[in-house]
Amino acid sequence: MPHPYWPLFDLEVRTPRLTLRVPDDDLERRLLDVASRGVHDPGFMPFTVPWTDLPPPDFERSALEFYWRNRMVRPESWNILFAILVDGEVVGSSNLGAEGFPVTRWFETGSWLGREFHGRGLGKELRIATLHLGFVGFDALIAGTGAFVDNAPSLGVTRSLGYEPNGIAHAARRGELGVIEKFRMTREHFETHVRRDDVELVGLDPVRALLGLS
Ligand SMILES: CC(C)(COP(=O)(O)OP(=O)(O)OC[C@H]1O[C@@H](n2cnc3c(N)ncnc32)[C@H](O)[C@@H]1OP(=O)(O)O)[C@@H](O)C(=O)NCCC(=O)NCCS
Repeated sequence: MPHPYWPLFDLEVRTPRLTLRVPDDDLERRLLDVASRGVHDPGFMPFTVPWTDLPPPDFERSALEFYWRNRMVRPESWNILFAILVDGEVVGSSNLGAEGFPVTRWFETGSWLGREFHGRGLGKELRIATLHLGFVGFDALIAGTGAFVDNAPSLGVTRSLGYEPNGIAHAARRGELGVIEKFRMTREHFETHVRRDDVELVGLDPVRALLGLS
């Protein structure tokens, strides 16, 4: 049943392998359960915000605060966070975010999967689904992404989809200098090399209105 006030709860991106849904309170709990079991090798930090280093219950509480902050959506500033479901099971999360999107038409993406779900092609599948929402659903012109230079799986997903290099950035990582490789993908590249005809968008129009895109 459609949510009367918050259309993001009715938005779905479906591929044959997985579904993206904006998490309600129940899905947020299930995301925490997956994340608590481990997202990456503890010896390696893939994130610029090291949320996975926090001990419980700070880990869960800071993640919940992050989810709740992301429920604040305005046309000029949003970060839409998704739970990734495979056969009804939560396996991880992806997000697409933008500042000034009605003018820039540029969005950034990010993602994580529970460790037990790595290396099965799900990272690439969820990136394609997230890009589909940005380019097809929201009429974006550019998608950006980035990862630390030693994050081989994340860079593997990015390179396998043919993004262009877009410089570097520096970030503190566990108190040391981390170098991030940045990438961009144009709408034209998405349309000719990435877009698939088996990705479905459900509940899109009210979300476009919420984001000032109607
Ligand atoms: C990044 C992440 C989402 C990737 O998902 P995944 O399901 O493990 O990756 P996939 O199985 O979809 O692999 C996609 C591509 O990357 C390649 N790849 C995966 N792991 C790789 C590795 N260690 N080295 C080189 N290439 C790799 C695959 O070969 C595949 O390319 P192909 O389609 O050309 O064969 C996942 O590893 C993860 O959650 N990591 C921890 C959190 C994280 O790093 N998030 C990103 C922060 S920027």
